[in-house]
Amino acid sequence: MNPAATSTDPLWMPFTANRDFKKEPRIIAGASGHHYTTTDGTRLYDMFSGLWTSGIGHCHPKIVEAVQKQVAELDFCMTFQIGNDKAFALAEQVTSMAPDGFKQCFFTNSGSEAVDTALKIALGYHRARHEGSRTRLIGRERSYHGVNFGGMSVGGIVPNRKAFSANLIPGVDHIRHTMGSEHVAFTRGQPEHGANLADDLERLVALHDGSNIAAVIVEPVAGSTGILPPPIGYLQRLREICDKHGILLIFDEVITAFGRIGEPFGAQRFGVTPDIITTAKGLTNGVIPMGAVLVRDHVYEAFMQGPEHIIELFHGYTYSGHPVAAAAGLATIDVYETEGIFEQARSLEQTFEDIIHSFADHNHVIDTRNVGLMGAIEMAPREGQPGARGLEAHKACFWDEQLVIRNGMDTLQFAPFLNSDVDEMQQSFASVRRVLDSID
Ligand SMILES: Cc1ncc(COP(=O)(O)O)c(C=O)c1O
Repeated sequence: MNPAATSTDPLWMPFTANRDFKKEPRIIAGASGHHYTTTDGTRLYDMFSGLWTSGIGHCHPKIVEAVQKQVAELDFCMTFQIGNDKAFALAEQVTSMAPDGFKQCFFTNSGSEAVDTALKIALGYHRARHEGSRTRLIGRERSYHGVNFGGMSVGGIVPNRKAFSANLIPGVDHIRHTMGSEHVAFTRGQPEHGANLADDLERLVALHDGSNIAAVIVEPVAGSTGILPPPIGYLQRLREICDKHGILLIFDEVITAFGRIGEPFGAQRFGVTPDIITTAKGLTNGVIPMGAVLVRDHVYEAFMQGPEHIIELFHGYTYSGHPVAAAAGLATIDVYETEGIFEQARSLEQTFEDIIHSFADHNHVIDTRNVGLMGAIEMAPREGQPGARGLEAHKACFWDEQLVIRNGMDTLQFAPFLNSDVDEMQQSFASVRRVLDSID
């Protein structure tokens, strides 16, 4: 029996205001379906599907069983120069769900690792094709690509970058984010205006010359910075500009893949095919950490040259394609298919959109946004205290309404389960309204 914690002090928590949290800790000890249970036995509804991870709910029996079986059968084996059966099976499943032309995938342990892997693949691709001058990487403002040095550098979140600014990787630029001057608050779904914001890439091509640019990375829908749906035609325009200048297009689909916007990948939802896709989270329903990088044939083929006994990509993690994670991934995909999860997600979109936009009239609210089952209610910041109102709303949801939501500063974010029940959804947002009514 493991000892219970007697103090919260030894744990330095990620992306958390540690001192504030530890005054009044919010600690989960169990989960089942759409609910969490705290250490004192309180049940909470999870309105964030874990951390965008657990779209089919917690502790799904099929995934639990697959993981238990796998850990007893093959817990781990060497991943370099030897493979395990589950990793190959999962690669086959994942690539079969991907847009046409993605026949290979490389496993990582997280979204951050997937992003850094994708950036390295992009650089290696150009070098293999004797275009080694293409080293410049382009990200976008208000984007999140994880916390490793590559992802942090192409990312566009100021607090994440500020402390490390002198050591961000060199040769990175950013295009403007998609909430430009064209943005109209309270837009439902994809904004009609703003496709021209993609032309900002042409500005960087003009500055550096396209022959020096390796890749552009964007989230099809920026998630962590408050749900920014792409303007209609924006991703298509980015694709055109990349094609024109020989630049690889990377979609960071750590959030948007696996049904969050009603399709296996956002690329399919938006009808735009990138060259590389990164993913994680919904790959295993969050049960075991795992990420993946999917590449189109031409990217893979560029590496598969030269003597066959030589490693083509000098990159990998001890746990790339870990058998237990892969077993969780296989069971997750099985549930996606057998329970029609993506179809369920799609059928919930309109209800979700209506609920999110019903907050437009609230006096704290300055914008509401949605796409798929990703939604945001942005509140005005309190004078001189940005983020305070959002954190208070998050805590009031937890303590007073037994509801888990996420706040990014003063923007409340919602990621309902892909198989949500409409009543649960309505009750959760009735809770959110009571909270907004109760806070200053
Ligand atoms: C778009 C995107 N990329 C990368 C990451 C980083 O993933 P991880 O936290 O698994 O490293 C995230 C995490 O939310 C994300 O949303």
